[in-house]
Amino acid sequence: MDSIIVQGNGPVSGEIPISGAKNAALTLMPATLLTDEPVILTNVPRLSDIKTTNELLISLGTKISMEEDGQKITLTTQEITSHLAHYDIVRKMRASILVLGPMIARHGIAAVSLPGGCAIGARPVDIHLKGLEALGVELDLRNGYVHARAPKGLKGAIYELPFASVGATENLLMAASLATGTTVLKNVAREPEIVDLADLLRSMGANINGDGSSVITIEGVTSLHGTSHEVVTDRIELGTYMMAPLIAGGKIELLGGKRKILESFCQKLEEAGAEITESERGLIVARKNAHIRAVDVITEPYPGFPTDLQAQMMALLCTADGKSVLNETIFENRFMHAPELVRMGANIEVQGGTATVTGVKNLRGAPVMATDLRASVSLILAGLAAKGETRVARVYHLDRGYEKVVSKFRAIGANIERLKE
Ligand code: UD1
Repeated sequence: MDSIIVQGNGPVSGEIPISGAKNAALTLMPATLLTDEPVILTNVPRLSDIKTTNELLISLGTKISMEEDGQKITLTTQEITSHLAHYDIVRKMRASILVLGPMIARHGIAAVSLPGGCAIGARPVDIHLKGLEALGVELDLRNGYVHARAPKGLKGAIYELPFASVGATENLLMAASLATGTTVLKNVAREPEIVDLADLLRSMGANINGDGSSVITIEGVTSLHGTSHEVVTDRIELGTYMMAPLIAGGKIELLGGKRKILESFCQKLEEAGAEITESERGLIVARKNAHIRAVDVITEPYPGFPTDLQAQMMALLCTADGKSVLNETIFENRFMHAPELVRMGANIEVQGGTATVTGVKNLRGAPVMATDLRASVSLILAGLAAKGETRVARVYHLDRGYEKVVSKFRAIGANIERLKE
């Protein structure tokens, strides 16, 4: 299995282009199942999760062609030829559940393997299912699969999500676009990726209002058509690289970065001692003083501090002045990076969903291992500031969500390489 070697190497400088958002692409691609016409997606990140989604869509009948080295994908589903999203593909990627809404809306029948647990918590899909039931879908859970039927088509309804789940909001938005009548979804997720999905659906002919707020109204239409759409910027990739100059010192420019998609995160970084400036090309980030100050963080649904940047923030706070308290409220069991950071000399105590980080002067390089995507990158970030060599194992997690991660870190002067084994 490949690993990544990082040597702490002092301040960083230079620029990094930010890719299209993985989490947006993973819902935009299934949305193309809603029409029999071609949909062109541009600015698609080249990641293993995108390959898995391609594989899943091809198994359902989608024809896919790629240009521009995979950044431009044309997806055409003239006909849904299989209603089965097989366990062998779904188990690789939870976001596979996002084919359920579009398949049932277009095809009237779908069977999708239940994603099961994953390293960062139980992650059930009950809200997806209750919402679809509200739209008139008949559900049956058998042999590890959700069997869904809507022989008479979907019917608009008012449904309030018990929690603002990102995936459930996406599934319901896609399904309701082809339902009869009006659907009002309350307490929905407000993430920029939801707005990107609504933008795509509108350009396919859907009638959607309110995305970006907590109530979305959808007037169902009878069919959707082909279009072309550019995937929104990856705010989590942006936030991850923003950490590099704060951890290692220096100043970098993140091309295509926008502050408005990460406002609460930017405010927290400024509280800790970051200088963030908007430029014509993106965001410039620098460490203001020699030291980073301890700050307290609570992860929340958008527009709050993103759970997907909590591990990276913890890496930063390991060497801050003082004691920081991080509260993880979105996922249980999302502190698996903490014991690895402790192996690098950090002082972290975890109790339930709370981690207390007492800043230490230096981290030391160590062999470490991560069990999820964001945890892996937090260990690379920690390695930038550590004395000596950090070897991060299980880098296949990174391939799921960070495009060209080694060359992007190298572009700002980091001493990092991938060892093929
Ligand atoms: C998406 C993102 C992920 C991010 C997360 C929260 C994608 C592909 N992934 O994941 O990177 O960390 O949002 O910002 O976009 N829940 C239920 N029942 C449900 C659905 C969710 O209990 O039916 C719970 C989950 O277990 C979790 C919480 O709600 O504890 C948040 O989940 P959700 O917002 O649905 O996240 P995902 O869409 O899976």
